[in-house]
Amino acid sequence: MAGGDAGNAEGAVGTDFRGARQTAADHFLALADGVPVGYVDCGTFDRCAVYGGEGDDGPIVLETIEAITGAIAFTIDPARRRQGLATSMIRALIDHPDLSTVELFEAGVEPENRPSRRTLEAAGFHLRSAEPDCEEMPYYELWAPDRRAR
Ligand SMILES: CC(C)(COP(=O)(O)OP(=O)(O)OC[C@H]1O[C@@H](n2cnc3c(N)ncnc32)[C@H](O)[C@@H]1OP(=O)(O)O)[C@@H](O)C(=O)NCCC(=O)NCCS
Repeated sequence: MAGGDAGNAEGAVGTDFRGARQTAADHFLALADGVPVGYVDCGTFDRCAVYGGEGDDGPIVLETIEAITGAIAFTIDPARRRQGLATSMIRALIDHPDLSTVELFEAGVEPENRPSRRTLEAAGFHLRSAEPDCEEMPYYELWAPDRRAR
């Protein structure tokens, strides 16, 4: 996979979002035979904060997991879907040297996005909770093998 400039997401680095501080913004193009077929984005945070909506003093944090956390979002060229590419791309992301400090990967998915949910499961992710979050968003997570430090 090829890494790239972060664009607007770079501006989020160093800021707090819902109880966690973003420490990096990485973006990768996935290539198949030298041709771009997919894109995956990983924002790295100093912890995993489970969001519980907005309170009078700002975001409500229901739970904090003390693990360096990579929040991912991804897409595959529509002409190249159902070929296992997203699964391979996410597995490659987890093993990417630029993300070797990430202990926990997570992804929030629209509940009706079956292709994305199936893809995350195929890549080894599990639902964090049987209940969706306060925004009705199911969250999936994967502990990076051998990297859980705390
Ligand atoms: C979600 C997406 C990345 C999947 O890409 P892909 O390369 O087609 O996925 P894969 O071929 O690796 O398939 C992975 C799993 O999902 C399943 N899957 C993929 N598309 C599916 C569909 N349309 N319906 C049902 N299952 C589907 C596959 O069968 C496979 O499951 P299996 O291993 O149990 O057989 C692609 O559909 C996409 O880009 N969607 C739009 C963007 C998006 O929704 N991104 C996710 C939000 S972060």
